[in-house]
Amino acid sequence: MTRATKATLTFDNGAPPIEFPVLSGTMGPDVIDIRSLGQHGYLTYDPGFMATASCASRISYIDGDAGLLCYRGYPIEQLASQSTFMEVAYLLLYGELPNSGQKSVFEEEMRRNAMLHDQIHTVFRGFRRDAHPMAVMVGVTGALSAFYHDSTNVFDAANREQSALQLIAKIPTVAAMSYKYNMGEPFAYPQYRHHYTENFLHMMFSTPCETYQVNPILARALDRILILHADHEQNASTSTVRLAGSSGANPFACVAAGMASLWGPLHGGANEAVLKMLAEIGDVSRIPEFIKRAKDKSNPFRLMGFGHRVYKNMDPRAAVMRKTCHEVLDELDLNGDPLFQIALELERIALQDEYFISKKLYPNVDFYSGIVFRALGIPESMFTAIFALARTAGWVAQWNEMLSDSAHRIGRPRQQYIGAMPRDYVPINQR
Ligand code: CMC
Repeated sequence: MTRATKATLTFDNGAPPIEFPVLSGTMGPDVIDIRSLGQHGYLTYDPGFMATASCASRISYIDGDAGLLCYRGYPIEQLASQSTFMEVAYLLLYGELPNSGQKSVFEEEMRRNAMLHDQIHTVFRGFRRDAHPMAVMVGVTGALSAFYHDSTNVFDAANREQSALQLIAKIPTVAAMSYKYNMGEPFAYPQYRHHYTENFLHMMFSTPCETYQVNPILARALDRILILHADHEQNASTSTVRLAGSSGANPFACVAAGMASLWGPLHGGANEAVLKMLAEIGDVSRIPEFIKRAKDKSNPFRLMGFGHRVYKNMDPRAAVMRKTCHEVLDELDLNGDPLFQIALELERIALQDEYFISKKLYPNVDFYSGIVFRALGIPESMFTAIFALARTAGWVAQWNEMLSDSAHRIGRPRQQYIGAMPRDYVPINQR
């Protein structure tokens, strides 16, 4: 098929047609550049951005029909099996995999920046102990802008790099402290001797009475989960970070905004919802009942961990996650885990069901991640916090890409107004 270079918009009221350039990326659908449309007195209408490319990006790419996800061109399966989260964070931020020298410098940078300003402990103490860790994460990450404000001239590339590194380094500490606070345990400081993911496990599970012994197989499984969650094109939270950042806002505040968006059950909150759903199902014999509820249009229930806006095939992250699930449960001798058995059977039944087949609903990354987290001893309330930790690498890479782009402008969507026409104010005693 020859690629179009122009698209023409015609009207049935005799108005002259309008031509738009058609732009091609390296992969994926061509885009119609409608930026000049406003000059002709029209806007496009696309709630939920079903067919709108909000930016040009080099960072990640999804082919939803093929079930393909790449970071900077590298397929997610290769990164998950051969790489580390530190390499992936570097790749997302700088565009290439690091050589061994670059990797050591980057890891050292992460270690040196992991600790938080001591006054931040006071910020934590302002929260209720039973607050959800995501509520605390959103608040504390936003508060970091009050502590690291002087290096955030977002129009300076070196400043941007510095805050991007600070964010990737510090968010695991914020996440682990949110958990410790919730548990009523003392905060565990980061340790220089640990690698990034091991350090997170140490900060989560060490106490003054007992140092947590990191199991390398489990640390590797968590590292792989971080790789799988690190970036995902222009999803809701990434778009939130970009939109917040487009005004020149402080990057810590932008990442806090991204976390708030991620927390929703249709986005990063789904991993917690999946585990709750599997526990509610309770037994494989009850699966048909839940499948029936998910298909019933009069019932708001959805099969959590199923479906995706872009993937109309297996989410490649779900396949890696299923494998990781097997490995972790093997290592911990938990192969008979009842929730895992329910998840496997639920996937099998749903994938044979006409409703799920016709709507192209497949398991997504969140379907198996909760089972792995639970086996690692991570409580449900921390699932989305760990997603946020991993996605911080993608958020800062996307934020930096946007501000480095000379074509960047403040994000300002328009609307179709359907409200009242101009009318006169009515004094209160006449209403
Ligand atoms: N269970 C039952 N039906 C579903 C489901 C589901 N999980 N997901 C979509 N559908 C149906 C939906 O009812 C609709 O049917 P109809 O065309 O008859 O109205 C059709 O499939 C299309 O769904 P949609 O809501 O229009 O699709 P969307 O692209 O707006 O939403 C989604 C995508 C992920 C929000 C949705 O599939 C969903 O709610 N899934 C469950 C939550 C979930 O697992 N979220 C994690 C997403 S992956 C992690 C991440 O990147 O955040």
